Amino acid sequence: MKATIAELPKYVDKEVKLGAWIANKRSSGKIAFLQLRDGSGFVQGVIVKSDVEEEVFQTAKTITQESSVYVTGTVQKDERSPFGYELLVTNVELIHTSTDYPITPKEHGTEFLMDNRHLWLRSKRQHAVMKVRNEIIRATYEFFNENGFSKVDPPILTGSAPEGTTELFATKYFDEDAYLSQSGQLYMEAAAMALGKVFSFGPTFRAEKSKTRRHLIEFWMIEPEMAFVEFEENLEVQEQYVSYVVQSALKNCQLELKTLGRDVSILEKITAPFPRISYDDAITFLHEKGFDDIEWGDDFGSPHETAIAESFDKPVFITHYPTKIKPFYMQPHPEREDVVLCADLIAPEGYGEIIGGSERIHDMELLSKRVEEHQLDPETYKWYLELRKYGSVPHSGFGLGLERTVAWITGVEHVRETIPFPRLLNRLYP
Ligand code: 4AD
Ligand code: MG
Repeated sequence: MKATIAELPKYVDKEVKLGAWIANKRSSGKIAFLQLRDGSGFVQGVIVKSDVEEEVFQTAKTITQESSVYVTGTVQKDERSPFGYELLVTNVELIHTSTDYPITPKEHGTEFLMDNRHLWLRSKRQHAVMKVRNEIIRATYEFFNENGFSKVDPPILTGSAPEGTTELFATKYFDEDAYLSQSGQLYMEAAAMALGKVFSFGPTFRAEKSKTRRHLIEFWMIEPEMAFVEFEENLEVQEQYVSYVVQSALKNCQLELKTLGRDVSILEKITAPFPRISYDDAITFLHEKGFDDIEWGDDFGSPHETAIAESFDKPVFITHYPTKIKPFYMQPHPEREDVVLCADLIAPEGYGEIIGGSERIHDMELLSKRVEEHQLDPETYKWYLELRKYGSVPHSGFGLGLERTVAWITGVEHVRETIPFPRLLNRLYP
């Protein structure tokens, strides 16, 4: 019976055949242990010399790391392994011999591992991170589909810059100038006026010269947008969504989180509602904590975000930022011109901003004024402005950065390990 490692619990005491790679190997004169991996999981294969043909034991003894094999054996319960099962091997058929695999069980430097990212992905730890990433993606679709949202795909080649013009990836679109999308939001607003509640999930490009553990040049963003939804309701959707994703990962990625050494008791507390703190209060709080380098009107840096996040054991919304440090489309506070109806969601444990969102301006006149103030070309934004001409409604949305969320949930230090092939300031290879 052919099976995958993930399916082994269904075949206890039965014989199965697996296609696998040799992740690692140990052997003595009488017994060999093969660490097998097949993509679905990792399992130990045990070969007892006296129980198998001489040739099979020789193959197991001499086989090299990352060689590919078909392995036949009986599934056994094994309380000592985290997976809970092992394979008592009766036969090993070599498919292909791997020679000089560069990533050995010893320690390697980050740059070396990044140069070998196409192989590094096979390691147990990277495998676990990718599995958690996949679970977050799965739970995202489930959450939005179950809550009446339709998925809409905004274009990747665009003519506009929702988040400001300094970080655009410019390219040519035949004779015209075009940019790789830095956010699908403006298109999602159009989609919300057609479909009500929508979400997108796609690649996003930022030509940021940032070299921090939170920045990628290419990352994936989930952008929901909702007609007739106002500021506070928008925050409620966000806390429900983030809690759902965390709880799904806890439930469906127990083994992976264990492999990663993640303290799950911290994640278990992540349930809605999340605390809120206004930008004004955050500034006061930072001054009390001794941050003299920040004044009202400044944007927060990561030390500021981390200091604020540290006083909560859940993600925290920082609300009502100054108008002048936020994008042109944000709805002003009804009683205050100087702040907008927006919030950033800051993850605990120093992972920083995982969501940026706001209510959008729905008044045509005000939005036209903002386009002008931000020196944007009214021709480029003509279609966007028209959304305010034909049955304009209050609406809100947000964008969640997938990789920062994966980093936080898995507990990995740097976002470069949360995406299969990271695009970083100095890295386009592999
Ligand atoms: O705060 P940002 O720039 O918001 C927007 O783009 C809005 N248009 C979203 C919306 O309202 N529809 O980006 C949203 C999130 C951030 O909170 C962060 O998680 C992630 O995207 N992000 C990055 N992740 C990795 N590398 C980068 N360079 C990132 N820039 C933003
Ligand atoms: Mg932001």
